[in-house]
Amino acid sequence: MTTENTPHVRGPDDPDYFTGYAHLSIHRTMLQDKTRTLAYKDAILNAKAQFKDKIVLDLGCGTGILSHFCLRAGAKTVYAVDASDIADQARLIAEENGVADRLIVLKGRIEELTLPSKVDIIVSEWMGYCLLYESMLDSVLFARDTWLNKDTGFLFPSHATIYMAPISDDMYYEDTVDCWQDMYGVKMKSLMPLAQQCFFYEADVNDLMSTNLMGSTCELVTLDLMKTQAADLRELKCNYSMDVTRNANLTGFCLWFDVLFATTTPSDPPRHRGRRSGPIVLSTSPFSTPTHWQQTTLHLPSQIPLFEGDPVSGTIYLRSNPIHVNRKMTFELHLNTFEVILPEPSKDEDETPKLSISKNHIQDDPNLVKLIERASRWRTAVSKTKELGAGPVRINTKHQWCPGGIPKSELPAPTKLGEINGSLKYDFGMV
Ligand SMILES: C[S@@+](CC[C@H](N)C(=O)[O-])C[C@H]1O[C@@H](n2cnc3c(N)ncnc32)[C@H](O)[C@@H]1O
Repeated sequence: MTTENTPHVRGPDDPDYFTGYAHLSIHRTMLQDKTRTLAYKDAILNAKAQFKDKIVLDLGCGTGILSHFCLRAGAKTVYAVDASDIADQARLIAEENGVADRLIVLKGRIEELTLPSKVDIIVSEWMGYCLLYESMLDSVLFARDTWLNKDTGFLFPSHATIYMAPISDDMYYEDTVDCWQDMYGVKMKSLMPLAQQCFFYEADVNDLMSTNLMGSTCELVTLDLMKTQAADLRELKCNYSMDVTRNANLTGFCLWFDVLFATTTPSDPPRHRGRRSGPIVLSTSPFSTPTHWQQTTLHLPSQIPLFEGDPVSGTIYLRSNPIHVNRKMTFELHLNTFEVILPEPSKDEDETPKLSISKNHIQDDPNLVKLIERASRWRTAVSKTKELGAGPVRINTKHQWCPGGIPKSELPAPTKLGEINGSLKYDFGMV
């Protein structure tokens, strides 16, 4: 069933996108992610009063797992929509479970289908890496505006929040760049500039250990899905501010999200699975049980040594493309913090390098004294060294400074330490 005036354009990457979801491996990964699937199950079954006798849209039903939870919570009918061939399997599963009369599978893009009626609830698992990768939320908002009974209806999940925290991962440089020095006796140093580009300008999806965090967590943005507009998602400009909680090298930032299942405007604070009250929260935080979303890390091309109590602040732009362009998400990171600028390498090896410290608006900084103290600490440490490169500064865990990294001549253009205080752009790599 196709509407006459189809409002959305089919994107060039969409055939690939939906073909990907036809393969069972991705559904197995999602279903075996117990944190994810049980959060939905608990949230739906805890809301029996709200689901009883209701018409539900399960947008992007996949195997139909969430539709079955909705029926078990008392829903009268579920329209299970999916544009991928997995919809054929969802139909078989509905028949196998004897619910095909109430679990109506509709194969096609929600933007191009006509549902049999309006719906009371939209359930959807639409979240991508760092929440917005894949841009499926656009389709949920389209369904909300087109098919949801506005006065009484609600979305499950109802809210989504993105968080960010500073991290210290000193091993990352060794694992991604240093390792090319020598592979089984074969020198591969010529790959190091490429390694810098490959591993430092791409958003990295990985499971971070909470011990890598070195500062407070900042809430970047919360979306109330009943109110969010697709246009809002194109660029989220978020100011962030964090405090460093231990002496360590700042090597990057970690981002993650959670979603909240509230049937009314939440008055209770969010809760995580297992606690007693308040709406259920599905969290992908490094403090929670790992999920297939993991966390998203933006690595800085150079480490910035920081001390407990130091502020780190700036602005990050989260950009996601509409589905008819491509589904990618990008980041632009602006960072303000104390920054140590090392001088250009000296030709005369014995010349003691001079150290300068800069901070945006340094004149306005009430912590100038602290800054100067720190400068002298650095001066002592750095003057012990003879060889300085403009590459990343390495520091061992005992905080004895030792510059290292690769010679300046081998670095790609935008990696000078002094440029960290500017902006960095990240795309997702191979995810
Ligand atoms: C992340 S999976 C979730 C699958 C299932 N609900 C689950 O929880 O296991 C998202 C599904 O949404 C489907 N999908 C994405 N955008 C869609 C759209 N605009 N119309 C219909 N289906 C869509 C994909 O094909 C995919 O199967």
